[in-house]
Amino acid sequence: MRNDTAATPQAIFRKDYVAPGYWVDTVEMGFDLDLDATHVATRLTMRRNPDSAEKDLVLFGAELKTLQLRLNGVNLKKSAYTIDGETMRIPNAPDEVVLEIETLIKPSKNTSLSGLYASNGNFITQCEAEGFRKITWFPDRPDVMAKYTVVLRADKKKFPVLLGNGNLIEQGDLGDGRHFAKWEDPFKKPSYLFALVAGSLVCQEEKYKLGSGREVLLQVWVEKGNLDKTQHAMDSLKNSIRWDEERFGLELDLDRFMIVATSDFNMGAMENKGLNIFNTKYVLANPSIATDIDYAGIESVVGHEYFHNWTGNRVTCRDWFQLSLKEGLTVFRDQEFSADLVGTSTGRAVKRIEDVRVLRQVQFSEDAGPMAHPVRPDSFVEINNFYTVTIYEKGSEVVRMYYTLLGHDGFRKGMDLYFARHDGQAVECDDFRAAMSDANGRDLTQFERWYSQAGTPRVDVQTHYDAAAQTYEITLSQRCPATPGQPEKLPFHIPVAMGLLNSAGQDMPLHCEGYEAQAGVNSLVLELSAASQTFRFTQVIEQPVASLLRNFSAPVVLNISYSDEELGLLLAHDSDPFNRWEAGQRLATRRLVRLTKAVQAGEPLALDSMFIEALRATLNNDTLDPAFRELVLTLPSEAMIAEEFEVVDPQAIHTARQFARAQISQHLRADLLSAYEQHLTPGKFSPDAVSMAKRSLKNLALSYLLEWVDESTFELAKTQFYDAENMTDRLAALAGISNFRGQPQQQKEAAKALQHFYKEFKKEALVIDKWFMLQATAHTTDVAKVRELMTHKAFTLGNPNRARSLTFNFCNANPAQFHVADGSGYALWAELVIALNKINPQVAARLARSLDRWKKYPLHLQEKMHAALEKVAAAKKLSKDVAEVVTKALA
Ligand code: PHE
Ligand code: ZN
Repeated sequence: MRNDTAATPQAIFRKDYVAPGYWVDTVEMGFDLDLDATHVATRLTMRRNPDSAEKDLVLFGAELKTLQLRLNGVNLKKSAYTIDGETMRIPNAPDEVVLEIETLIKPSKNTSLSGLYASNGNFITQCEAEGFRKITWFPDRPDVMAKYTVVLRADKKKFPVLLGNGNLIEQGDLGDGRHFAKWEDPFKKPSYLFALVAGSLVCQEEKYKLGSGREVLLQVWVEKGNLDKTQHAMDSLKNSIRWDEERFGLELDLDRFMIVATSDFNMGAMENKGLNIFNTKYVLANPSIATDIDYAGIESVVGHEYFHNWTGNRVTCRDWFQLSLKEGLTVFRDQEFSADLVGTSTGRAVKRIEDVRVLRQVQFSEDAGPMAHPVRPDSFVEINNFYTVTIYEKGSEVVRMYYTLLGHDGFRKGMDLYFARHDGQAVECDDFRAAMSDANGRDLTQFERWYSQAGTPRVDVQTHYDAAAQTYEITLSQRCPATPGQPEKLPFHIPVAMGLLNSAGQDMPLHCEGYEAQAGVNSLVLELSAASQTFRFTQVIEQPVASLLRNFSAPVVLNISYSDEELGLLLAHDSDPFNRWEAGQRLATRRLVRLTKAVQAGEPLALDSMFIEALRATLNNDTLDPAFRELVLTLPSEAMIAEEFEVVDPQAIHTARQFARAQISQHLRADLLSAYEQHLTPGKFSPDAVSMAKRSLKNLALSYLLEWVDESTFELAKTQFYDAENMTDRLAALAGISNFRGQPQQQKEAAKALQHFYKEFKKEALVIDKWFMLQATAHTTDVAKVRELMTHKAFTLGNPNRARSLTFNFCNANPAQFHVADGSGYALWAELVIALNKINPQVAARLARSLDRWKKYPLHLQEKMHAALEKVAAAKKLSKDVAEVVTKALA
């Protein structure tokens, strides 16, 4: 039975879009910054939008104390406006309006980290999506773009640094121990890009010459004591600036570009105009605190936020249903940036594989659950719940499909036309599609379904070779499962990049009816647009093996029945490195599914030598990039294996995967040891692609070696842990040690190592996050252990990074323990969601999603998950954020 104590959340709909009744030309603001009570004076110059059906002047405000409201110089009477929830309506306003507003806000009480808030005694803002309304009344919607001038006033000692969007045009003392800074942003922007920062901060700065010769000032601002951790962010910023000039002809439009790091942040980072605000996780790095993964994360997030300056800021979204217009495109751009920086073709493939892994593991799962939504949603209750992997990662795949269909130059033409048409505007996903279509003279009408239909399409493959006629036919059939509100789907326009391999594993020349053959080009993009289509190849002189969906050319599930021999051939030879890896994953998945079923049936477990030998050959193949080998040797995650089952048995999957890892460890022992030794990176740490690749293969080898219980490998890990001078190697060793299933003596040593690590890094918040994360995901960490860690003095739910490090990692990345039969994992989850709901609804709603897929588990677990969901749904003062997630899960 549904418990109806939670208010049913109200959805808003894309189809109800109405242009704003008034435009805002200028915004002038004065802030008297005080942590407990900040006074905000705002002056808006507004003018009626004659093209709107909305006749009232509409403003939004939340959690504000309103001190003053004056319209064209006259105090607004209570009877002159209405307030309903967050919406204020002023009827019968004149065509030209000057609105003066004074509000009082309480930054130190703001734990939601949206609006103006305090972080370690500094002021930070976060206005996307609807945080500006927590600062002042405003038509807080992205299609209202205005020019801002902002004066910040604060105590000079406590807040020596005052930062705003755009250019600093004036600063000085106020005489009373306070000072001020006046910032002017020369570009029109939506309110969600507003930012201010005030406090005690220091910066690394550099003058940088743009391609045009213009000099700009770059700054990375951090709290004192962190200046030894900003170099990588600065380098990443310079690389981003150069890359956007070279690849897209887009130049930085400001004289000054700032990055600020804060340890209290809900997301990764935010692209506020000229004043990007970052989670410290994506700024701070040096070899002793940051892993290679952190270095790569910083590079891509710095890039991402910088690239938003054009895709998001100069051209923004008409409404929040269009969020993927900026996010999907900007993720595509940051993925390409990282790939281009590595440069080599396997380097690109490694990046592609990593991105696809996230897409499949997280987005495909979202698409199959109760929160499934199209890349351009039709409705939502709380926009903060829609910063999803579908909007971001699937959105990026949709942009990538234009790139695949139109080619490098065609895509660039589309981008150029998009900016030529829409610079300075707030537009829709359809406008982007129109630019791509018009610039290339291509009909992309059907492509629109990628924006409107949710769900992951399935493409089933049938092949037929006629030796006598030397023809080969590939029949592709597509279907897409139902998603909430969308029972039936129409066919998608799917680019299927492909090639044909001969028995020696070489690409064969392609002669496909309807497609022009190009000499020397052995890869083709088939366009599947009907429910089912047959592609006929001629002059096929021997039975080929089809390599389909090369480089993962579309976000679909490809069902094709390969034999093990065919997969072995693809793994050993495919000229497309993505599909090489894919073949290895198919071989592994097949075995892991069989092993899981054997565990469930209580049958003996075995791993065949064909598979082990294929892995050995890959591991020892020195012509392959070590990073690529590491990916091939990594078994599909437990979450990926789970997707292969109708009903998920997390413990059986865990047992099966661990068995396979131990077998690989046993049979490849000598090879793993020599891989370990060959890929040491002695000397000074460097986060370059070559060294990173070596470390990743070496540490994979170590983690396998530790699966086969034996003292010498434990010693190897111990030595690496105590001797390593970089965090990548230390953390890998510590993870290995703490997952080691050895004797009591070794368990003691593991506890000692964890203690040692904690002591050494207790002042480095980001490293303590890793310490919690590592324990949250350890095989041996059960619910009781998590509860114990929650009482640790370093743990708090009040800081998002810390909360996530322990609780999110346990609920999302330790499935065998979280889904324990007694339901204690779910009870813990419910407690956490309810506790977080009071502190930070956005963070709470993210954790709430851990139970999205509850219907995929056996009935006895379903009952317990359902009860936990009901418990959250019945909680008092449930935020819209959490209510939407649990209501949809229970629907
Ligand atoms: N717009 C940010 C990004 O993707 C993400 C973000 C959303 C940050 C909402 C904070 C709040 O770059
Ligand atoms: Zn973004």
